[in-house]
Amino acid sequence: MLNQSKPISVFNFKPGTCLRGKWHQRTYYIKEKLGTGAVGAVYLAKQDNDQWVALKISDKAASITSEINVLKKLAKVQGESPGPSLYEIDDWIDRRGECYPFYTMEYVQGESLDKFLNKRGRQWLGVLFPQLLEELEQLHRVGFILGDLKIENVIVTHRPIRLRFIDVGGVTLIGRSVKEYTEFYDRGYWHCGNRTADPAYDLFALAMMALRCAYPNQFRRTKEPKKYLITKLKQASILKPYDPIFHKALLGQYQNSQEMQQDFKKRTRHLTRKSAVPQDKQEIDWLEIVICISISVVLFFLATFY
Ligand SMILES: Nc1ncnc2c1ncn2[C@@H]1O[C@H](COP(=O)(O)OP(=O)(O)O)[C@@H](O)[C@H]1O
Ligand SMILES: [Mg+2]
Repeated sequence: MLNQSKPISVFNFKPGTCLRGKWHQRTYYIKEKLGTGAVGAVYLAKQDNDQWVALKISDKAASITSEINVLKKLAKVQGESPGPSLYEIDDWIDRRGECYPFYTMEYVQGESLDKFLNKRGRQWLGVLFPQLLEELEQLHRVGFILGDLKIENVIVTHRPIRLRFIDVGGVTLIGRSVKEYTEFYDRGYWHCGNRTADPAYDLFALAMMALRCAYPNQFRRTKEPKKYLITKLKQASILKPYDPIFHKALLGQYQNSQEMQQDFKKRTRHLTRKSAVPQDKQEIDWLEIVICISISVVLFFLATFY
């Protein structure tokens, strides 16, 4: 299904609104809206036990149920489970008696990837992308792909600095047709492959996320979509250091996340070594300056006293 990303407008809870769950009778105080997408509205809320949660509510019961099932599966992944943790599932009844399903999950506090990179610099790509690739690897290992990977569905947390995915609406079983996708990030749209879920589908979307950071206004395909995409990558100066990696991901040349992660690590090591050279050079320059000044001072004293 194509995610047109037209935010739904059914819910417009004002800050301070109090929501009570029908089944668990828990109260949630709405602090602010965190965002809306094609499926639902997400609010930052305080539970009656003072815990902050992200509350996702929708009029699309089937989508919410499917997301809940995915989050439950992810919770069973060993180690640090990928995606936000699921807390509670309930329904909310409005004044007219209409029932809306909602769930609460871990509040992932942070900022959008493009804002973060603009502030902190593109070199962070080499740190953040391998982190997300690790989360993707965990997901792929249990037989799923993320599907709708895009800038709106990831957050950079601050302590620790980490790139995490938050929206599991597109999670699809490997081998099935991708459940939800967004044109710009979809390899089918760019004639770079089909829409059958495999790990390379997510890796393509990851490369598109980098291109989206380089071109904030995005761009549309032309008559030769694949060729055009590669040209756009070449022209994106901020992606230069990682160009060969994104190139491979766009062409579907990585079989799994680990391969791409390894390439990132190798590249980052190489870049760190390279950037160490000018630093050494700077130290030598300073040494030269200090020696020159010392010689001048000695010569000055010699000339003055003799
Ligand atoms: N767990 C969360 N923590 C913090 N912000 C979130 C969380 N989940 C969603 N958001 C915010 O809400 C927006 C919409 O949520 P999302 O789950 O992507 O909705 P949709 O499925 O409708 O696209 C996201 O882009 C993000 O800004
Ligand atoms: Mg979303």
